[in-house]
Amino acid sequence: MNTKIYHKEDLRNDQVKTHIKSVLHQGGLVVFPTETVYGIGANALNPQAVLSIYQAKGRPSDNPLIVHIAHKKDLYQYIDDIPRVATKLMDAYWPGPLTLIFDKSSKIPFEVTGGLNTVAIRMPNHPIALDVIGLSELPICAPSANLSGRPSSTLFEHVYEDFNGKVDIIIDGGKAKIGLESTVLDVTTPIPTLLRPGAITKEMIEKTLELGIIDGTDKKVSDIPKSPGMKYKHYAPKGQMTLVDGKIENVITYINQIVKSLDISKTAVIGADEVTSNIDLKYKVSLGHLSNLDEIASNLFIALRQMDDLGIEHIFIHSLPESDLGQAIMNRLSKASGYNTIHV
Ligand code: TXA
Ligand code: MG
Repeated sequence: MNTKIYHKEDLRNDQVKTHIKSVLHQGGLVVFPTETVYGIGANALNPQAVLSIYQAKGRPSDNPLIVHIAHKKDLYQYIDDIPRVATKLMDAYWPGPLTLIFDKSSKIPFEVTGGLNTVAIRMPNHPIALDVIGLSELPICAPSANLSGRPSSTLFEHVYEDFNGKVDIIIDGGKAKIGLESTVLDVTTPIPTLLRPGAITKEMIEKTLELGIIDGTDKKVSDIPKSPGMKYKHYAPKGQMTLVDGKIENVITYINQIVKSLDISKTAVIGADEVTSNIDLKYKVSLGHLSNLDEIASNLFIALRQMDDLGIEHIFIHSLPESDLGQAIMNRLSKASGYNTIHV
């Protein structure tokens, strides 16, 4: 397949808009940027189109997709019963990186939900994403635009690497600002349940609702995952990754010691400046300063992909405090390391 590449400016051109719209109406795939990560989008009302997303990603078809809308009011077309907590959260955080799980209406095909009776919906906060969804006049289901098992794509270069030749259109929107996938919150349970931590943090949700929510995020892969996405290995680079947990001085001492016994041409450390600058290794990727979690989040997936490009076999990262955005970052780090944590 010949993939057409568009840039931000092209979206002002009527011919380009018509092309994007017709591709989506004909069941094609369009990769577009959002504020969290890039998404690979298709018409959520067309089961064949939805199935082709799973195919392009190599994703198990029981892992449901998020439906993206361009206007809050569109939600009322696809969901019959909208709980009060959801309205409050939509008012506070849409458009934005918060996905809500609702009871599915008959309008949404089971192909989107992996057979579940619930459906995930979000309104992204990115001008290109909103343009694409808005001009299509369709609900667009879009998982993160990465081959299954790889870290989500936060750069155009990464979606190009994974999907050039496999989708109809890729839109280059530069670097995704947040860099971690949206928060997923189930509002069908009597008390809302957090299924995936993201930039809309547990603390923010609780403050808005004036209510404690249930933290259903996976510390470990559980037997019955509340969110199907929880059971799959995610974000994982090819090398063996170790999450080192402890005081910063201990982390630095431990990593400096252990790397002495490893092949330094295949060993790397990823982490905050304060750690990487004190490690004696050739391959060090700094994500930003410890005090700037936004920056750390936005660089994380880029660093994970870099590991594969460099052919790294041993990767060391370190833990962060698990409050606020730290919870989402630690969730991705734990998964990327396959829950391989060393306490020092
Ligand atoms: O930031 C994002 O959410 C990105 C951008 C493109 O919007 N999308 C994204 O989609 O991360 P995806 O498919 O990679 O992750 C969707 C997550 C999965 O963990 C899935 O299991 C969960 O949402 N999910 C979807 N529908 C669900 C449902 N009905 N019940 C529980 N979990 C659901
Ligand atoms: Mg994903």
